Amino acid sequence: MAAPVAPAPAPAAEERGGRASIPERTLRTDRWWVAPLISFVVLFAFVVYATWAAFVNRNFYYKPYLSPFYSPCLSTNCASPHAGNVGVPPHLSIFGSWWGISPAIIVLIFPLGFRLTCYYYRRAYYRSFWFSPPACAVAEPHKSYSGETRFPLILQNIHRYFFFLGLILNCILTYDAVLGFGKHPDGGHFGLGTAILVVNATLLWLYSISCHSCRHIIGGRLKHFSKHPIRFRMWGVVSRLNQRHMQLAWASLIFVALTDLYIRLAASGTLGHGGWI
Ligand code: FES
Repeated sequence: MAAPVAPAPAPAAEERGGRASIPERTLRTDRWWVAPLISFVVLFAFVVYATWAAFVNRNFYYKPYLSPFYSPCLSTNCASPHAGNVGVPPHLSIFGSWWGISPAIIVLIFPLGFRLTCYYYRRAYYRSFWFSPPACAVAEPHKSYSGETRFPLILQNIHRYFFFLGLILNCILTYDAVLGFGKHPDGGHFGLGTAILVVNATLLWLYSISCHSCRHIIGGRLKHFSKHPIRFRMWGVVSRLNQRHMQLAWASLIFVALTDLYIRLAASGTLGHGGWI
């Protein structure tokens, strides 16, 4: 009687065209978790601060500085006593009362939509909040992956429209920075708040212009750059800025919160009433 033949071993996953399975979650030995941890801490702190600042609905104006969280001033609430020790001038108030709702809640929809759908921030919060994946070559805990092809993540594609809305907001914040030079009747003023508003507007412009959508709008869909020399030059500038998009995203995010904080401290009297403010 012939001896039973042992079954042939199953082919390895790589041979079947699949992924090799390894017991370790990752073979990386560096501190890959530092970057997602920093992203989590900074983004979480910003969300907490921005939520509080948006709902508190006061101390967002100190003549001539208006907080970027409350600009443009949409409501006559801005001129109410709740606005801080100095109300927003009526010409900055666009609509009537919003029944006591903080105008910042409406204003912040646009910059938050812009940042939430930003290609860089998507990478940052997918990694730090959803572990999808936490880092390159580190296994994620999720069983399936559908990318951004289904609801709700397919909505990330509206980023290009938020880009245009963000440009409008940048124009408004630039106008606010110009108003920051006009505290006195003769128009001349330059305080720390003026410089802060100017830097804030500059960082927001740099962040917007370095946007991937901006780069595509300027240089995309062209078959021959040689026939579009101006767009080619603009595309070159935007491409160079685009290499710094991550840094500009963080710098503009942190600085916009610091700008609001500075105006809040000035409006509440914490900084005193010196001319340097
Ligand atoms: S990709 Fe980041 S703002 Fe557009």
